[in-house]
Amino acid sequence: MSNESNRRDFLKQSGLLTGGVLLTSLPSFAGSYGFHNSADDTIKVALIGCGGRGTGAAMQALSTKQNVKIVAMADAFRDRLDDSYKNLNQKPDIAKRVDVPEERKFVGFDAYQKAIPLADVVILATPPGFRPMMFEEAVKQGKHVFMEKPVATDAPGVRRVLAAAEEAKKKKLNVVVGLQRHYQPNYREMIKRIHDGALGDIVGGSVYWVSGGVWVKPRQASQTEMEYQMRNWYYFNWLCGDHINEQHIHNIDVANWVKRGYPVSAQGTGGRQVRTGKEYGEIFDHHMVDFVYEDGTLINSQCRHYEGTYSKVDEQFVGTKGRVDSFGQKSVLKDYKGNAIYTHNGKGDGNPYQIEHDELFAAIAKGDYKFQDAENGAKSTLTAIMGRMATYSGKMVKWDEALNSNIDLFPEKLAWDAKPKILPNADGFYPVAIPGKTTAV
Ligand SMILES: NC(=O)c1ccc[n+]([C@@H]2O[C@H](COP(=O)([O-])OP(=O)(O)OC[C@H]3O[C@@H](n4cnc5c(N)ncnc54)[C@H](O)[C@@H]3O)[C@@H](O)[C@H]2O)c1
Repeated sequence: MSNESNRRDFLKQSGLLTGGVLLTSLPSFAGSYGFHNSADDTIKVALIGCGGRGTGAAMQALSTKQNVKIVAMADAFRDRLDDSYKNLNQKPDIAKRVDVPEERKFVGFDAYQKAIPLADVVILATPPGFRPMMFEEAVKQGKHVFMEKPVATDAPGVRRVLAAAEEAKKKKLNVVVGLQRHYQPNYREMIKRIHDGALGDIVGGSVYWVSGGVWVKPRQASQTEMEYQMRNWYYFNWLCGDHINEQHIHNIDVANWVKRGYPVSAQGTGGRQVRTGKEYGEIFDHHMVDFVYEDGTLINSQCRHYEGTYSKVDEQFVGTKGRVDSFGQKSVLKDYKGNAIYTHNGKGDGNPYQIEHDELFAAIAKGDYKFQDAENGAKSTLTAIMGRMATYSGKMVKWDEALNSNIDLFPEKLAWDAKPKILPNADGFYPVAIPGKTTAV
């Protein structure tokens, strides 16, 4: 029996499908939230945060085998939404699945609240500072979620995501987090073998995101401070969480995955050596952190944004029986004599950004409850934030202290004329953390 007939049978038996029409108000019984509530088999998607990644994720959702349609788009800025809509309409195969008339394009800080009710699945791809409130809302409304990493920028945000993750589990909502290495065949195969003991016990490792950095959008005279920070979200912690959180989370998360746990403490160093101008807001340009796990394993994490220097985005681990030096396209687990224990040749492996959507939408169409990524997403986000707390303060930070921190970076009010908590001085420079002086938690 095909999955679709399975699903239709289930709906018929459960009384949800009457004369081919699916009742939109679902009675509360276990599993009911596992089904999207369209009258046909269309899975309706709302895209929230129509930037580079959001548009990419939308295209991936529309490239799955299921009957997926984008029915609503939401962004803080009209120009970003329009660019995304234009991009989504460039390829005929994708364009025919874009059904977003003017009345379903929403702009502003409250745009997400208007888009979420219209969909079965929401894609959350705004800067991460907004993720907790948007994820909370999507779960409250019983939606399946694809949300980008990181899932917060401070501990209060992490706690909100953890609470909503529990709620999502109760409602059996599939949640995929864009930590796409979990959907990348070489990581899956290598880490499965590491967990099966191929390298013995993992006793140390290093994880890296050392690269050149990202864009700056020059200040415009007409902009309020809120608009300037929103356009340059990367450089403000309430929006981004610093690059240890925004990018390096990928590698830190791999360490947590390999160790099957989260570090108990972090201490490290960091600062601004190269990227010191006022256009770089408040974030550091380098961080180096020792994360210590419950069994004493030390994972060294290194991230920096320096133009014109050596680049490396990778992870390596040492075990009692062997090591892995890279998760590159051809990755090898080897013993200490240099013999390969397992070689993964990634040639022909699928694109993990596509796989995460293929698997999510297949599960939703079948009525399966398969993905609960939010808790790990929140805990890996907290790991990165704990690293930032350590580098900003120069103090040793324990996991529970990080989790219970009341440092709340989010503005009191969201409006274009409202003031973010971090403001520039008379010369346009923002306050930057000073180790030894800045409060850790
Ligand atoms: N998994 C990956 O490899 C990967 C790659 C790139 C980006 N990302 C993540 O995706 C997210 C977005 O990054 P991006 O590169 O697309 O940035 P971007 O600036 O291109 O897009 C962000 C979009 O969100 C919009 N936005 C901001 N605040 C909003 C709000 N309150 N409501 C609605 N829309 C809002 C912005 O206007 C913008 O269009 C980030 O969390 C980033 O870390 C993940």
